[in-house]
Amino acid sequence: MKNFLLKEDFLIGAASAATQIEGGDLNHSWMNWYKEGHIKDNSTPERANDHYHRYEEDGKLLKELDLQIYRMGIEWARIEPFENTFDEHAIAHYVEEVKLLKSYGIKVLVTLHHFTNPMWFEEMGAFEKVENIRYYLRFVRKMVNAFGQLVNEYITINEPNVYATNGYFFGEWPPGDKNIARTIQVMNVMAIAHIRAYELIHEIRQRNDCQDTKVSFANHMRVFTPENPKSARHRFFTRLTERFFQGSLSKAMMTGEFELPLRRHHSVKKGTYCDFIAINYYTRSSISGLKDGVKKGVPVNDLGWEIYPAGIVECARTLYAIRPLDIYITENGTCDNHDSFRSRYIYDHLQAIMAADLPIKRYYHWCFCDNFEWVEGETARFGIVHVDYDTQKREIKKSGRFLQAVTQNKGVTE
Ligand code: NOJ
Repeated sequence: MKNFLLKEDFLIGAASAATQIEGGDLNHSWMNWYKEGHIKDNSTPERANDHYHRYEEDGKLLKELDLQIYRMGIEWARIEPFENTFDEHAIAHYVEEVKLLKSYGIKVLVTLHHFTNPMWFEEMGAFEKVENIRYYLRFVRKMVNAFGQLVNEYITINEPNVYATNGYFFGEWPPGDKNIARTIQVMNVMAIAHIRAYELIHEIRQRNDCQDTKVSFANHMRVFTPENPKSARHRFFTRLTERFFQGSLSKAMMTGEFELPLRRHHSVKKGTYCDFIAINYYTRSSISGLKDGVKKGVPVNDLGWEIYPAGIVECARTLYAIRPLDIYITENGTCDNHDSFRSRYIYDHLQAIMAADLPIKRYYHWCFCDNFEWVEGETARFGIVHVDYDTQKREIKKSGRFLQAVTQNKGVTE
């Protein structure tokens, strides 16, 4: 391995999401999806990592790993189990969790929406309807007020493109729809929801004299490449996929400029609706038609996703051209069930980041621990901490120790 040094102000940490680690018998869209039998190994989000009850143990592990930053989710269905009925115990729990992490010197970035909806919201059509945005905003208001001075950094919505396409185009996630018009509608509504949440969070915090507010949304960014670069059809579908899957949505959410396939919204002014660029980056896809694939012969992870470290910088560059802001890698990681190549994956991606002439300031590894990986259930391990789901025993993996060493040594020095 070649040596490299981290830039002076570069921070390293990990990310997670409430539904994937907390457990609990909650009335939300993913519990419903499980009950309908869509999880490949039939594992339930009710189990996951029981993090809700083990957050103190998990906080200690984050500290033991010397992580400087942590991106955590909160579960809307737990906080507001019935419409307009908030569970104050659940809210107090999250406040406690943040306080604990802060007491360890770990800086917290809170994700407000990460794929899962309370069933009452899902049943009213969730983000298919513009008029439903007010429910999301009421929840946002409640939590931003509850966190007060404690949390100054928020992700409004995680990967809206993945939520919309998996749920409404491919029909693989709740609500299991396969309708292109509704997919685009959900993207439109989520973009407006983000913009309104961005404004709201700033307004609340300003009114309460809270400093240094940072708000963004997590872009799921992928590199798309034509299967056969000589084929005009493959090149056409590559451009189409790029724009449909991420290009126009990212632009709309960052700037308020809605381009096809999205619709113009006269109520939204052009502006800047993020204080930093947040990127979740995993892989590159090869395109020959409407569904994406993987090039033959390239290195892949245990889910068959291409490992392509240079892509992390290519994606950052694309968004930086829209708004030249600081960039946080809010997720990057890999499914490596035996922890055999994760350290190398981390090394290659960090090295690519350090070699880039872009202000990439943070790296949140996905994930802190093995977890409930949506339809893959418990079969796909992304953690730097191993979890035995039967006993809930946690154990730091080799890759976790590697990330820790990089953080401590401010790079790879031997
Ligand atoms: C991104 C998503 O935000 C996260 O929930 C998921 O587990 C990872 N990708 C890995 O697929």
